[in-house]
Amino acid sequence: MELQDAIAQRRSIKVFRRDMNIDDDALYEAIQRATDAPNHGLRAPWRVVHIAKHRLGDMSKQLTEIAFPNLRKKQEDHYKVATNLGGMLALIVKEDPRQKESLENNMAFGAFAQNLMLLLFEAGIGTCWKSPAYIFNPEIRKIFGVKDDERLVGLLYLTDLEDLERMPHRERQHNQIIDKF
Ligand SMILES: Cc1cc2nc3c(=O)[nH]c(=O)nc-3n(C[C@H](O)[C@H](O)[C@H](O)COP(=O)(O)O)c2cc1C
Repeated sequence: MELQDAIAQRRSIKVFRRDMNIDDDALYEAIQRATDAPNHGLRAPWRVVHIAKHRLGDMSKQLTEIAFPNLRKKQEDHYKVATNLGGMLALIVKEDPRQKESLENNMAFGAFAQNLMLLLFEAGIGTCWKSPAYIFNPEIRKIFGVKDDERLVGLLYLTDLEDLERMPHRERQHNQIIDKF
């Protein structure tokens, strides 16, 4: 797949109504290859926790007990969506107390994440980066083993690509990006 096609055709997959499966070997290969992203000082400020298909239900129960206590319907809805996925990745950035290094780490993670989403797209795996408010909840962080010097920046939902055509191409504004010095 041409790079420009991957960039233009990748879409966030936001339909989770079918039971989906993905190739975990292809997932792991894409994660390794995504680390070619630029990162200052080669600090590699990224790691992921893979919630494999067979662990999604257990994870959903733990997560929703904390995120949606006593909200049975929300818990069930989350369970249905989560267990339909092909897997999930908890996205974790290494924090740095220094302002410059912190910025660099977070930017590098964005480059890693886009590499990863494009490589997965090429491998036939769909993604949607989710950043629900509960990623900041210390108890949720604990579920995924996020350390004190790390930041949980999202959950990457992993899908197949059967619904790709149904995903709207959210047009970007190309004007007013470039100003002349
Ligand atoms: C850092 C980040 C956080 C996001 N969080 C969410 C989210 O919480 N829920 C969601 O449905 N999509 C989320 N998205 C996906 C965006 O909504 C999506 O990229 C945007 O609508 C453009 O669509 P496209 O990816 O199909 O081009 C997130 C994307 C990024 C980069």
